[in-house]
Amino acid sequence: MGFDATRNAYDRYMGRYSDQLAITFLSFTGGEPGQRALDVGCGPGALTQVLATGLGASHVAAADPSESFVAACSERVPGADVRRAAAADLPWDDATFDLVVSQLVLNFLPDPEAGVAEMRRVARPGGTIAACTWDYADGMTMLRTFWDAARDIDPDAPDEARTMRFTTERELATLWEGAGLTDVRTRSLEVSTEYADFDDYWLPFTLGVGPGGAYAASLDPGALERLRDGCFRRLGGPEGAFTLSARAVAVSGRRPG
Ligand SMILES: C[S@@+](CC[C@H](N)C(=O)[O-])C[C@H]1O[C@@H](n2cnc3c(N)ncnc32)[C@H](O)[C@@H]1O
Repeated sequence: MGFDATRNAYDRYMGRYSDQLAITFLSFTGGEPGQRALDVGCGPGALTQVLATGLGASHVAAADPSESFVAACSERVPGADVRRAAAADLPWDDATFDLVVSQLVLNFLPDPEAGVAEMRRVARPGGTIAACTWDYADGMTMLRTFWDAARDIDPDAPDEARTMRFTTERELATLWEGAGLTDVRTRSLEVSTEYADFDDYWLPFTLGVGPGGAYAASLDPGALERLRDGCFRRLGGPEGAFTLSARAVAVSGRRPG
């Protein structure tokens, strides 16, 4: 799914949103010095780094199945316990963490229910389990623009608003309640990022990262050019710097006990 990428490629594409989202997400989840936290699907470590700043790196663990991302996260957050693992098979004992968090990952899991059950297992009784995902249908302008332009030329383009689950507060709450978590609450989180110019927006899609990058890589040069033109038009033909907003939805709950 395009996550065997370098940190640089990921950051130009999505990581530029992840740093700010991590701060906003953790202000929703809570987390205090002295607590132990796990970041599931850490990628190159945006959320892991913010956790380490608040809790100390030795109190922070992270997991991701991508070898390149595990290497990038280990380098970015020295002292954190970063391991190569999938959400459904976390290599930590029961009740290890006060806080188990996952940013922009749930909709990539082959078995989300199994992933959440594992997140619950490694949280201590009373501990917090929380996740956030993009609102692909409406609030994530960078991806919405790309997929709207893609569907203009290919109605069957794999628009993430259609292919992804868990993109609304209701869906997230249902998943959390189904996992037996208590005190379930949800929130919408808004972030934004600045692009230096249109190329700063477009070129990251050509690096093969994520579903958007994988789709761009599947196109012939003519279709890719038409897609680029469509994105340019839909963004209003920007000549210089511009800012795009992005909305995520977040859920938090507690392990009973
Ligand atoms: C959009 S990235 C988010 C990365 C990071 N959390 C962030 O906020 O920038 C999705 C991440 O999910 C990871 N992922 C994919 N399948 C996974 C699985 N089965 N278990 C855990 N993580 C997975 C990918 O390797 C990738 O790092």
